Amino acid sequence: GTQKLWGGRFTGETDPLMHLYNASLPYDYKMYKADLEGTKVYTSGLQKLGLITADELTKIHYGLDEIKKEWDSDSFARHPNDEDIHTANERRLGEIIGRDIAGKVHTGRSRNDQCVTDLRIFCRDTLNEKLLPALLDLIKVLVKRSREEVDILMPGYTHLQRAQPIRWSHWLSSYATYFTEDYKRLVQILTRLNVSPLGAGALAGHPYGIDREFLAEGLGFNGVIGNSLVAVSDRDFVVELMFWGTLFMNHISRFAEDLVIYSTAEFGFIKLSDAYSTGSSLMPQKKNADSLELLRGKSGRVFGDMAGFLMSLKGIPSTYDKDMQEDKESLFDALTTVEHSILIATGVVSTLSVQKEKMEAALTMDMLATDLADYLVRRGVPFRETHHISGECVAKAEQLNLSGIDKLTLEQYKEIDSRFEADLFETFNFEQSVERRDATGGTAKSAIFKQLDNLESQLK
Ligand code: ARG
Repeated sequence: GTQKLWGGRFTGETDPLMHLYNASLPYDYKMYKADLEGTKVYTSGLQKLGLITADELTKIHYGLDEIKKEWDSDSFARHPNDEDIHTANERRLGEIIGRDIAGKVHTGRSRNDQCVTDLRIFCRDTLNEKLLPALLDLIKVLVKRSREEVDILMPGYTHLQRAQPIRWSHWLSSYATYFTEDYKRLVQILTRLNVSPLGAGALAGHPYGIDREFLAEGLGFNGVIGNSLVAVSDRDFVVELMFWGTLFMNHISRFAEDLVIYSTAEFGFIKLSDAYSTGSSLMPQKKNADSLELLRGKSGRVFGDMAGFLMSLKGIPSTYDKDMQEDKESLFDALTTVEHSILIATGVVSTLSVQKEKMEAALTMDMLATDLADYLVRRGVPFRETHHISGECVAKAEQLNLSGIDKLTLEQYKEIDSRFEADLFETFNFEQSVERRDATGGTAKSAIFKQLDNLESQLK
């Protein structure tokens, strides 16, 4: 059959399982477009050096375009000896334009600089075409709902215990804030990873003085990696991207967990749409929040992708080692999982319904105990003292089996502290409580709108 591209020094056959174990084509074919683009620009660089003629370059570019059509239409015929996308494309180029010319494209290049060039292009394009736009959509949906549903109040929790009233919009904008930071972080990573290793050769550099800046510019990179040993073996961008995914999925997981809780019958704050729920094979009444549970569960998977590859990198010596081929399966899995999770989260948020009555019915007067303490603060009493007094009021109402601190009489209040006046009862108003929190970042309507304006201007 077709001999392996590196077959010259070998006499024995590769063990069949070793061939499969070694081959990356089953997953790195995904980078075919980047690989063909890379070879196009690289051969233009070779032509500038006089290593191939203008006529040969035309034929090479023609052949590469033909191969792209085959991959695009899913008709590329893989050969059993193809090892990876780089060897497959070069083998096919030889079949289309003849091996005499195709045999020149790899002059001065190594799969070591080639494979990581492809991977950086692939990451850049995936971020630009998929992750960043999808994430922007998710943020937009959160911001839109947050603006539209700003009048709905709900209990805010710490330790999952009722704490203080907040606006539902405040919860929405909190996740819009996390995701905006994720967006900005991803743009920074994109800038860092979009640099060119091409022209570094196998490790030592290019023997014909190729113009690496020309190659970088032709492939849309921001610049070149300044050390050839680093160029072929730096996979920090892969780890960084998967760490980004891990942190993002952590936000997604907490977001999903909130919604799992809010969608239980006991809370009943939200209803998930049928589109993002599933039923039980046994219990006819069940509607399960599987979308949310998967968002939460898949956060572990992305962490695993990152941790696994980081372990593979640890302890390998300088420059290229085959361990590095492990970069792709974990990265591709992480990127796909993150992309799908963003799309599912967007669908969930844009279709869930809010049960305003349930949220507001869950507000209890003891959640205004801080506001009661603040009432005395406004009359000059130190907060540490008012905190204690307000606590006594809560205890008294509990002792008397009252439904809340608003049910104590003025006389009972005065028995606890003589500085209470009749206007203390004005404290027992949830709307007023949230509107008081109008300092930057707070839950008052004006403060929330400011947060949303701020997020929107950061994303411009
Ligand atoms: N398929 C390999 C990878 O993805 C390409 C590089 C192989 N280079 C080598 N010298 N064996 O890492």
